[in-house]
Amino acid sequence: MTCLWRATTLAAVLAVGIASSAFAQAPTPGAPPPPPAPKAATPAPNKDTSGVDVTLTPRTIIYMKGNGTWDTALETLQDAFKSVYAYLDNTDRVIRPANYLEGNPGRGHAVIEKDGVRWAVVNLSGMVFLQAARSPFLVVEGLLEGLKDKADLIVVDFHAEATSEKVAMGWHLDGRVLAVLGTHTHVPTADARVLPGGTAYISDVGMTGSRAGVIGVKREQVLERFRTGMPVRFETADEDPWVMACLVTSNGDGRAASIEQLLVPAR
Ligand SMILES: [Fe+2]
Repeated sequence: MTCLWRATTLAAVLAVGIASSAFAQAPTPGAPPPPPAPKAATPAPNKDTSGVDVTLTPRTIIYMKGNGTWDTALETLQDAFKSVYAYLDNTDRVIRPANYLEGNPGRGHAVIEKDGVRWAVVNLSGMVFLQAARSPFLVVEGLLEGLKDKADLIVVDFHAEATSEKVAMGWHLDGRVLAVLGTHTHVPTADARVLPGGTAYISDVGMTGSRAGVIGVKREQVLERFRTGMPVRFETADEDPWVMACLVTSNGDGRAASIEQLLVPAR
């Protein structure tokens, strides 16, 4: 069967998360605390780390999956995220890293049946330059054991910074899952291949967003930040958008037959 895996298509729709994850700014010392977040089910206005107003609703957070949502740079959005904790606990449309603490809101994998095939999607966070409570290499073992009779195909979205950690995860899971697809850096890598054991692998799928900016942010603002070293308000770049994805085909026994990188101008 054929599957178009579009994690980063969803990931980059709300580029506020991209800007925040890539260029975190520390809160201003002495600044007044943000207003208290509304109760659950009410959209929660807040500001991201660059001062941009953000309103989170359950629908919005689906679009943030994969980038920003789980990055530590979004600490200033804590109150906003609290408003969707209950939603995370009750949906199979959004998953968070499985190697967070078990008591954290949401879940680390989802199983969805489509045309008689049971798909499991697992999300893991790297630990190199990112914060995660538990080793993804250990946590995934328990996950795979639990999915043995519950899924026909398993796709792992490995949200990590370091290519070394991603490559290691590819080898760790080779032959045991359909695909290990790296995300987070927004920059596609040129190493898509099927590993010897039959797992499709790429270090980073990339993002769906502007290639005229700097990983999702208007380039002139990023350049000013680098040139001056001073805080700069970041805005989402919208010029020259591209869709970045991978097409993975399965040979029918849970392993991959091929992986093809897709880099397509959106207009
Ligand atoms: Fe990320």
